[in-house]
Amino acid sequence: MSFRWVPDRRGLNEGRVNEPFILTILSEMRYPERMAIVTPQVIRQDFPLLAQHPDLVYLNSAATSQKPEVVIETVSRYYRELNASIHRGAYTLSVQASEAYENARRTLAGFIGADEHEIIFVRNTTEALNLVAYAWGLNNLRAGDEILLTEMEHHANLVPWHLVCERTGAKIKAIPLGSDGRLDLNTLETLLTERVRLVSVTHISNVLGTVNPVAQIARAARAVGALVVVDGAQSAPHMPVDVQALGADFYAFSGHKMCGPTGVGVLWGRYEVLETLAPFLGGGSMIREVFVDRSTYAQPPQRLEAGTPAVAEAIGLAAAVEYLKKLGMDRVWQHELELTAYALKRLDDELPEVRTFGPRDSDRAGVIPFVLGGIHAHDVATALDQYGIAVRAGHHCAQPLHRKLGVAATSRASFYVYTTHEDIDRFIEALKKVRDFFKDWL
Ligand SMILES: Cc1ncc(COP(=O)(O)O)c(C=O)c1O
Repeated sequence: MSFRWVPDRRGLNEGRVNEPFILTILSEMRYPERMAIVTPQVIRQDFPLLAQHPDLVYLNSAATSQKPEVVIETVSRYYRELNASIHRGAYTLSVQASEAYENARRTLAGFIGADEHEIIFVRNTTEALNLVAYAWGLNNLRAGDEILLTEMEHHANLVPWHLVCERTGAKIKAIPLGSDGRLDLNTLETLLTERVRLVSVTHISNVLGTVNPVAQIARAARAVGALVVVDGAQSAPHMPVDVQALGADFYAFSGHKMCGPTGVGVLWGRYEVLETLAPFLGGGSMIREVFVDRSTYAQPPQRLEAGTPAVAEAIGLAAAVEYLKKLGMDRVWQHELELTAYALKRLDDELPEVRTFGPRDSDRAGVIPFVLGGIHAHDVATALDQYGIAVRAGHHCAQPLHRKLGVAATSRASFYVYTTHEDIDRFIEALKKVRDFFKDWL
């Protein structure tokens, strides 16, 4: 059965896609049966780029993940079979494309335990956090107010607040990092005063892999009446997430880190809070009525999605979510916990010259930052590349954190659903060769 455009003879209001677009593609690609026998080796074959390059050890999924065939196929088929202007056309194709886009919203809502009206499609986590900063921050903060962040934030959860503070006079404070790679929550009592209007914290550090106790922080923040924003860029792709259980007001994540296309991400917001937000961008699709000199605005989510959205990308992201659901987010998380423990043990046992950072207990995501003696992180990454190992090097958009760790840069290996134990073995063996190469400088 393939998805096919058929002129809708039943009248516009009934012009719906009978079989959801993505589910048709998934079933044609026989995903339900294939998923019965998943191992990372099998999963790797779902990713054309990895399948074509068996010698590539891709350890930079924290920056962006590779894309499975079903996502590439969904985006391609959207353009071949369904492409139309959404929400405006009176013709069947437009109704069907709109339906597929709204189905994608429902899929994303279900993935994080939200209501579909609470899902705003944005470009990425950065845009989601800027949206909150501009639409809420600029209109609600003033001199004397405080924003509480942490020392382990990505620049995407720092710079928007700097911009807002420059304009409003509000001030930033940060929960410090403890020596164990976790936030020092003993400081919360003194930091969380009535002046704090907003707390914004990463769920998982993109450098240390630390999983922050967001629910606990959210409870404390709410007790002083502060709003809570969670940067979920590193948690939505890797672990089961239920926004109700987190107890936050906003949760932001990017599609491209979770098997989806670039150019699409999600801001989830509690509906009562979304309703209070002023528009972030103005233009088509977000209005109720427009006059030459003024306008009134639609309800969320439309109010916060101005202009033509990334339709193909949103539907592609929903395909990525269906793919991850078939794998099971519990299994995805368990796989990464296990790989991380394995990699850290081998590094500790076999490479004493390598220093790693981050918590050493079992609750730690698949991100390992490391330095090799005094060798620059870029040199280490470039040397690893000679062996087909792709790791990232630099400050990973977390300069304050690196300052705190006392290093200018780290190399970083990060894992995902397609990462295998053999990948880790090859990484360790290559790192030994790199160590031997640099031995006179260590
Ligand atoms: C924790 C964290 N927050 C925010 C971002 C920004 O994501 P994007 O570049 O997709 O907006 C990243 C990306 O690396 C991240 O790891």
